[in-house]
Amino acid sequence: MFSFRHALTLLTLVWLLAGCGGDGDGRIVLKFPHVVAPGTPKGQGAERLRALIEERLGDRVVMEVYPSGQLMNEDDAIEMLAFGEVQMIAPSLSKFDRLTRKFQVFDLPFLFADLEEVETFQQSPVGQELLGELSHKGFLGVAYWHNGMKQFGGPRPMRRPEDAAGMKFRIMESDVLEAQILAMGANPQKMAFSEVYQALQTGAIDAQENTWSNNYSQKFFEVQPFYTESNHGYLGYLVVVNPGYWKRLPEDIREALEAIIAEVTAEVNANSTTLNAQDRARILAAGKSQIIQPSVEDLAAWRAAMRPVWEAFAGEIGPEIMAATPAGRSD
Ligand code: LMR
Repeated sequence: MFSFRHALTLLTLVWLLAGCGGDGDGRIVLKFPHVVAPGTPKGQGAERLRALIEERLGDRVVMEVYPSGQLMNEDDAIEMLAFGEVQMIAPSLSKFDRLTRKFQVFDLPFLFADLEEVETFQQSPVGQELLGELSHKGFLGVAYWHNGMKQFGGPRPMRRPEDAAGMKFRIMESDVLEAQILAMGANPQKMAFSEVYQALQTGAIDAQENTWSNNYSQKFFEVQPFYTESNHGYLGYLVVVNPGYWKRLPEDIREALEAIIAEVTAEVNANSTTLNAQDRARILAAGKSQIIQPSVEDLAAWRAAMRPVWEAFAGEIGPEIMAATPAGRSD
């Protein structure tokens, strides 16, 4: 029988799905959980969004930022966006692997030499189209944010790929990253970001890859004595909203939010290199780990070992996307 309680449950569900939760003052609440520390590129971007929303839309909109995985991990955040429990997320592009194969392009090792090359790709028509790639699945990309280039860290020096053989590497949830580690003769292990420090400390994993800002803010340098400055891969984020929710926002608010997002995106992407360089220097200053600079020949060996990964995934990613990357462009 359809009872009052059922009706109430249904109403709650509809309210949740509509994602129209407001605060006690009737303001729209945008919850933005993420997993990194506040001082990282994403952490600073989220805080800047919050501050500009307060400054410009404070009587109508409030953003609540939950850093360091304190509200939920990224897998849960991806699900909760669909349910309207949270309104904005920015997982790394790698973490959308189970939703689309196209973002795998961002994980291909040594495809992008630096953030400038990534930026050119993201701003290209193909890169801009990818922002909407998941909108029919409930995820509308509103911006790309850079973190930076990834470095390898482990218990012993890794000058060449064979030095990594047999080690157990933590990776994000990405099949390309899995193939990359296998190509080095090492063992990949998909693991949530929040578990990495402890896994390194207890020896559950030997090694991992991440940017300087994540290595510093998560204190990985305390439990892993050697880094290789490989710059072998890109770590960046897709800032995502629920497309239905976004469309239902009052138009003037949506436009104001889009302007704020564009402004903050420019800041995040302009500052990310400096932040990572600062954190690299802090890691060195802490004196607990060494940073190995691979020679030109060593880098060529890393590239050669990983190159088969491109061939393995290019087909799924698609020729149009590959053609817009530095490997496909002739200019
Ligand atoms: C990771 O899991 O290593 C990264 O995605 C964390 C982050 O959001 O930078």
